Formats: sequence, structure tokens, C-alpha cells
Amino acid sequence: MIELIKTIEKEIQAILNKLNIESDVKVVEGSRPELGQYQYNGAMSLAKKFGYTPSELAGKICEKLNMLDIVESATIAGVGFVNINFTKAAIIKQVGKTFDEIKTLGEPKNKTIVMDYCGANVAKTLHVGHLRSSDIGEAIKRLTRKMGYNVIADVHFGDWGRQMGMIIAEIQERQPELVFFNENYEGEYPTISPVTSKDLEEIYPTANIKAKENEEFLNKCRRATYELQNGRRGYYALWELFVGESLKPVMQALDYLNVKFDLYEGESSVNNMIKPMVNKLTSENIAHESNGAIVIDVAEPDDKIEVPPFIVLKSDGAAMYSTTDLATILSREQRFNPSEIWYVVDNRQSLHFLQLFRAARKAHFVGDDVQLKFFGFGTMNGKDGRPFKTRDGGVMSVLTLIDNVKESINKKLQENGAEDEQICDAITTATLKFADLSNNRETDFIFDVDKFSALEGKTGPYILYTTVRANSVISKADVDLRALKLAEIDNKAYMDVLLNIIKVPTVLERAFEQKAINLICDYLFTLSNSFNNFYSSTKIISEQDTEKRNAYLKVCELVSRINTELLDILAISVPAKM
Ligand code: ARG
Repeated sequence: MIELIKTIEKEIQAILNKLNIESDVKVVEGSRPELGQYQYNGAMSLAKKFGYTPSELAGKICEKLNMLDIVESATIAGVGFVNINFTKAAIIKQVGKTFDEIKTLGEPKNKTIVMDYCGANVAKTLHVGHLRSSDIGEAIKRLTRKMGYNVIADVHFGDWGRQMGMIIAEIQERQPELVFFNENYEGEYPTISPVTSKDLEEIYPTANIKAKENEEFLNKCRRATYELQNGRRGYYALWELFVGESLKPVMQALDYLNVKFDLYEGESSVNNMIKPMVNKLTSENIAHESNGAIVIDVAEPDDKIEVPPFIVLKSDGAAMYSTTDLATILSREQRFNPSEIWYVVDNRQSLHFLQLFRAARKAHFVGDDVQLKFFGFGTMNGKDGRPFKTRDGGVMSVLTLIDNVKESINKKLQENGAEDEQICDAITTATLKFADLSNNRETDFIFDVDKFSALEGKTGPYILYTTVRANSVISKADVDLRALKLAEIDNKAYMDVLLNIIKVPTVLERAFEQKAINLICDYLFTLSNSFNNFYSSTKIISEQDTEKRNAYLKVCELVSRINTELLDILAISVPAKM
């Protein structure tokens, strides 16, 4: 994307064409920046193929590149690497184009993508898996929007299925007198939930254990699930109330993490579509009965793993996770006509999504041109390398994790005599999110609060601190920032920052292609490092030479702008001071 690099690639291409050499030219960042800002590595393999010595071919390329006014030097290194350094003027000109290039990347694509992430469950702990899905999903959404796509984000709460019947049955056993259970009641139902979200965290596990041990209770749960799904008024009213109650802390956590959705829908939202869907699938022989359940065969001859049939309905007739997921695809297709549907879910569910996508295709719920994609992620582990657990071995809730991080950050702030609730919150969010996002999405990683809350290293606080620092310099400058101009200055630290700035469009493009938010984090770290290097080695505010002072302030402004914009993609906001 970087125009400067494209120009060089075109030049090399032209030289090769003249020599009748066919090849796709790629100029990459220099692996040893002290030798070359960028490099071309193709000469060696091409030379052999087309009867030149590598240095001969590399020499021809260097000779031509050295004639360009944007090139400071093109030199041969080793057996035939071409190292390229640009002139200061060329780099500065490229910096000027950077924001236009970002805008071009974001030209409207006229495509709608539905994104499904978070997936918090009613009456179950919001755990670190949901945290990862929320953080990664939110960042991918923001990046995708930046690239010009129309994205509809759906939280897809787990609010249906067997757990709901279990909760109803358990509440009924404890408080049978509640009007929700009176089948003859025709009046209005209460509007206040008889249970709190805290109660639910106990009610559901209790019911779950009971259902395993007690057949009679299990049957009650089944019946309650079935009746809820088939419109029993009292159950539905009760369900609405405890869902609302249970989601309160979830909404609180999402708010803290700056995660926002266009649709706060859940598995339950497709309930009315289930009967007609099952009827259609069975009458068209897409689904069939198997041991009382309704299934779609989704195995394919080339499968390397066993792909079991996709269960549309359980033998007791109740809708389950897979049922609502299938119906939700149909619903999304009908409502939004998307070109793609993306799921950001734990890698451990990859088989479910493989089955689901095949089932949806077999059922023709989406056109062949609609892409269904699963973006999995690894596990966030504790310092012991095992999935996060509370002290008593339970599942660690996101709110508890937030509290723990907050506590440790507050302590640090106290030690420095800088206690401030807002700053503490900003650093907490940045710590958690950057830790989550700076790792390769696919791999497991260890979340160590001390490491990720440090002001040094590849951490959220470090990037925040750098941004606040850049902001603070420009706020002290008392000049019209937009009027400032960069200048050709013999200051390596300054030029290094500019060299990093021109890379933004490429970083965004790559991160988008691979849905690899960690590339943005890596870049923020590199840019921030180069900025801090510049900051500590250069007088800025006190610089007497106006041309230099203005150029330095401009760099601060550019870094501030880029950091803020990229942090916004990560859904991390920058505090006014730190
Ligand atoms: N509620 C699910 C869970 O906690 C995640 C939902 C993911 N999205 C989906 N459409 N299945 O495991």
C-alpha cells in the first residue's frame, strides 16, 4: 500500500521485464534497518534461474534505483540482497500521504458483515473465554468498519436451551407460590425478578447437579424447557425477568471493556422460527430422525476427523445450542442479507462451527456466495499455565478479574501518590485488553497482572503513557498544530519515528487480512518505542530553531493521532493524564 514502496517495486519490475525475467516483486522492511530501511530479496533466486550471478543482477537493480531521486542509496549486501534507503524528502512526503492512504483503505465496500461475539450466558459466569471473544471481536469489528465494511455486531447471549428450564424448575421448587407458576392466572405478571443475578449463580449450578442425580427433577427441567419454548405465559414472564437480572453484571463488564453491540439479541430471538425450520428440513429430507432426535448428516468423504451429524432437535423436542445457531443463520440472512457472517469463539468450538456451516449450506439457508467464517482463539491461562480459576477452584468471572487488576493498579498508583479513580479505570481496561489482544489470537497465553500492567514493555499502560506524553508535549506548545510542517533534519531518532509512521496503512491491511489484531499491538509498541527514543534524545519545546521545533512538535502530533486512532480500534481509550 505504501506508495513509496510501490514505486520501488514498479522500478524493479521494469528492470526485470527488460531482462525478460518474470517475477512478482516484493520489497519488504529491512531485517537490519541500520543497513537498509527496506530490502529486495528476489535477486538471488531469479539470477540462478535466468543465468546471471546474484551480484550481477542485484548490481543492475541497484544501479537503476540509485538514479531515482527518492532513493538515498541502494546497495548490495551479502550474496545479492538489495538494501534500500530513502531520502529524507521522500520519507517526509510519504508521511504526508499516510492519512490519505488510510482513508483509501476505508473506502466503502458496500458489503454487510454480521459479527457474532461475546456470547455471554444467562445464569452462568461471564468467564475469560467471553472476555477474549468480546475483546477480539470488538477490535475486529472496529478494524473491519475502518476498512469500509458495514458491520452488524450481535452479542448472541446464551439465553435459551435446557439451562433455562432448569432455572425455572429450581425456582418453582423453592418458591412454588409465585404467580408465574399458576397456570390459571390470566393477569399481569410482576415486573421485578424474584431472583437476583447472584442468586442465579447459585441456582443454576445447584439445579444442574440435582438434574444429574434426580431423574424426576430432570424430567421437570425438560418439561419446563419444552413449555417455555412453546409459549407458556408464566414461564416466559419469569424467564424475561431473570434474564434481565442476570445480564446486568454482563452489561457492566462489557461497558467497562468498551464493547458495544448493534444487536443485544440471544439464542431465544429465533424461537418462532424453529418449528417451521424443522418442518421444512424434514419435509425436504435435509434432516432425518435418528434415535428420536432430528439430525443433518454433515460428514464428508475427505474428512480427516470424525464429523458427527448436526443435531437440529433433541429427542425431547427441545431446541438446543445447535438449533438456535442454525435458525440464527437463516434469520440473519433474511434480515440483513450479509455477504459474510463471522463468529469469534473459543477454538474448542471449532467442530460445532464446522458442523453448523455445513448444515446451513445443506439447508441452503445462505447463498453460495455468502461466507461463513469462524475465527477461533486460544485460552487465557493463569500464571500456573492452567485456565483461570478462583482461589476455591471455580471459574474466574470477568468482573472478579477486572477487580483484581484494578486493585493491583490502584496499589501502584498509591505508591506513586497518584491515586485517581478514572486513571485507574483507564489503565485497568488498557492492561486487560492489550494483554488479551497483543498475543496471537490462536495461541494460549499466560495472563500475568504484574507483567501486563507494567509501564515498560509491550503493555497497554506503556502505550497509554506514550500517548499521554505526546499529548502533553503538544498541549504545552501553544501553536497551531495543523500548520506545522515536517522538515529534513539530521536527527536519526526523529527520522526513525517518521519511518514507522509510514507503515500504518500496511499494518492495518495485514491485520485485517489475517484478523490479527496483535499486529496492531506490535506496531503500537514499535512506534511508541521510537517515539520515546526521540523524546528522550531530543529537545522539543525548548528547541530554539523554529523549523526544527515545529517539525518535532508535528511528530508528537502525528504519534498522538496514530496511537489514539489505533488504540480506538482496540477499544482502549486514552486518559487525559496519567
Ligand atoms: N454462549 C456460547 C458459550 O458461552 C458462545 C456463543 C457463541 N456464538 C454462537 N453463535 N454460537 O459457549
